[in-house]
Amino acid sequence: MSDLHEFIRHLPKAELHLHIEGSLEPEMMFDLAQRNGITLPYASVDAVRAAYNFCDLQSFLDLYYAGAAVLRTARDFHDLTAAYVQRARADNVRHAELFFDPQTHTERGVPLPDVFAGIAGALREAKAEDGFSSRLILCFLRHLPEADAFATLEAALPLRDEYADLWIGVGLDSGEVGNPPEKFAGVFARARELGLRLVAHAGEEGPPAYVRGALDTLRAERIDHGVRAEEDASLMRRLKESQTPLTVCPLSNLKLKVVDDMREHNLARLLRAGLCVTVNSDDPAYFGGYMNANFIAVAEALSLSREELVTLARNSFLAAFVSDAERQPWLDEVDAMLRR
Ligand code: ADE
Ligand code: ZN
Repeated sequence: MSDLHEFIRHLPKAELHLHIEGSLEPEMMFDLAQRNGITLPYASVDAVRAAYNFCDLQSFLDLYYAGAAVLRTARDFHDLTAAYVQRARADNVRHAELFFDPQTHTERGVPLPDVFAGIAGALREAKAEDGFSSRLILCFLRHLPEADAFATLEAALPLRDEYADLWIGVGLDSGEVGNPPEKFAGVFARARELGLRLVAHAGEEGPPAYVRGALDTLRAERIDHGVRAEEDASLMRRLKESQTPLTVCPLSNLKLKVVDDMREHNLARLLRAGLCVTVNSDDPAYFGGYMNANFIAVAEALSLSREELVTLARNSFLAAFVSDAERQPWLDEVDAMLRR
C-alpha cells in the first residue's frame, strides 16, 4: 500500500453525506429479494453492476428507487445499516450522519416505525460495540409535493422521543432541477420551529441560485454537494465568510457526469478558496467507492497535500452535528496526523 493510501486509511473522518439506501450493494439486493420473495429484473449481481452506467442524476435515481424496493422489513433496514457501518469502520470513519428517504418506503407500504427501528437498531449496536458515533437525517423527496413532505414529518414526530439519540435533522434530496428549495419553504420552517437541524442538496446539477435558496429560504446549515456555487463569485465569498460546510461527493460527481474527469473536479479550488469542504461517498454502492476511495480519488487526481487531506478531515468533524465535547477528541486525533 502506498504512503498516501496508508495516510488516508489512518486519518479519522466523519461522513456527512451518505444515503443509507445508496449503500445497498448488489449482493445484498439479491439476498433481500430472495428473503422477501421479490423477483429482480436482473439475472445476476454482475448484470446489476453492468446497469450502473449513468448519464445524469435522474438516470441514477431511477435505478436507486427500483433497488430500494427490496427493503421491506425492519430486519432488512438493520442489515443494510450494519453492512454500511462495517465499511465505514474499515475506512476509519468515526462518526456518520446518515440520510434516509422515508417516502421511498412508506409509499410501498413499509411502516415508518419499521424503517426507524431497523436503522436505529444497527446504529445503537455499533455504538455499543466500539463507540461508532452516528446521527440520522430524514430527507424529503423534492420531486414530490411539499404536502407529502409535511405528511412525512408529521408521521415521524411521534417517534421523536424514542429516537432522540439519533434523529436530529431533515434534508432535501432527489431530482434537483425543476424542484427549487423554495418549494419546501413551509416544511423547513416547521422543522426549524421543532428544533431540527437543517441541510439540503443544492448546486449538484442545479444552479447557484438553488444554493442561495437553500441558505436564505430553507436556512440550511450545510449544503449537500454545492459544487456549482463556484459559478457565482459573490456566493463563493459568502460561503467562505460563513464557513457553511459543503458535503462534496467526488465519485458521485464523476459517475453522474457533474464532472467528466476527476482532474477537472473543483474540490481543490473550493478548498483553496477557503470554503469548508468535506469529502463524502453519497451512494457508495452505486458510485464505486466508500469514504477512502473518495479521498484517494481526489488526493491523486488533484494532487492534494497531506495538510489539505487533514483539513478535509478536520472540516468533517467541524461540520458534524455533535457537541464540542464529542468533537474535540476527534480533532486532536486528526491534528496528530501531521506529526506522524
Ligand atoms: N438521492 C440519493 N443520492 C442523491 C444525490 N446525489 N442527489 C440527489 N438525491 C439523491
Ligand atoms: Zn446525496
